[in-house]
Amino acid sequence: MVLIDWSEDFAVGIPEVDKDHQELIEDINGLYQQLGSGGDELTVMDFLTAVYAESREHFIREEEIMLEQDYQGYEDHKAEHERFLERLGELMGASQDDVPNEDGGMSLWLSHWLVNHSQVHDARLHNLPNKNSKAP
Ligand SMILES: [Fe+2]
Ligand SMILES: [Fe+2]
Repeated sequence: MVLIDWSEDFAVGIPEVDKDHQELIEDINGLYQQLGSGGDELTVMDFLTAVYAESREHFIREEEIMLEQDYQGYEDHKAEHERFLERLGELMGASQDDVPNEDGGMSLWLSHWLVNHSQVHDARLHNLPNKNSKAP
């Protein structure tokens, strides 16, 4: 059983961003399965570590796109990324001593954040007017 299925509704239209989102969804689903089946703490931490590392890499990619396009919403969008990593880091720190053997809403929080953030913030990165392109 998966928590979220990738669908075209999630696509923001930038191939590398969509690919990253698909990979993140796969790992969130993997985490959900582990937590739901009482997975061992090392495997749970492996999934959390993968989600953290992939997210950080993915955010850098999006932030580069924003900078290249001189995107006005850069600061707000970047702040959302930073808040997410901070929160995920806290959850990972908390779970090192007491790795959850049940979900407790963690994978739900991850999936909601990813879907909301990609539809609200990431979707705005598609077809940004390039400041370097000439006006028609
Ligand atoms: Fe994203
Ligand atoms: Fe983003």
